[in-house]
Amino acid sequence: MDYTFYKLLHMIGLCSLFLGLGGMISYSKGTSPFKGLIGAFHGIGLVLILVGGFGIAAKHQLGFPTWMMIKLGIWIVMAAMIPLAKKGILKGAALWGTVLILGAFAAYLGVVRPFQG
Ligand code: HEM
Repeated sequence: MDYTFYKLLHMIGLCSLFLGLGGMISYSKGTSPFKGLIGAFHGIGLVLILVGGFGIAAKHQLGFPTWMMIKLGIWIVMAAMIPLAKKGILKGAALWGTVLILGAFAAYLGVVRPFQG
């Protein structure tokens, strides 16, 4: 498996995660005929992002710099989004906004790679 494979995996994982998050946020406490699918997209997306991210890092011998640690932190928050939304700790526009801002920041970290320490 080469760099391109892991990078594609990372991107496909992102599509899947954000579809899952969008679906999950829009039904929150109600119900949805796609409940199972939404959970699967969220979970599979998280796995693909992680495998892809660490795959890229290994192929390009990036080590585990600060920007990658922060991305891992964001990944954990994205994983926790389902319980956070279910318990009503984050809801409505705040939930949509948090997901977008965190996703945008993770993308910035991957593209610019600041904090190389
Ligand atoms: C929700 C969380 C995440 C988002 C939204 C995200 C987003 C992105 C994006 C858009 C890129 C493309 C950069 C480019 O093509 O220049 C990227 C690259 C990358 N990401 Fe993530 N990512 C996330 C989580 C992670 C995690 C958890 C890891 C690993 C621990 C990771 C490791 C990487 C690496 C190593 C690159 C490669 C940068 C390069 O090719 O130069 N990412 N990420």
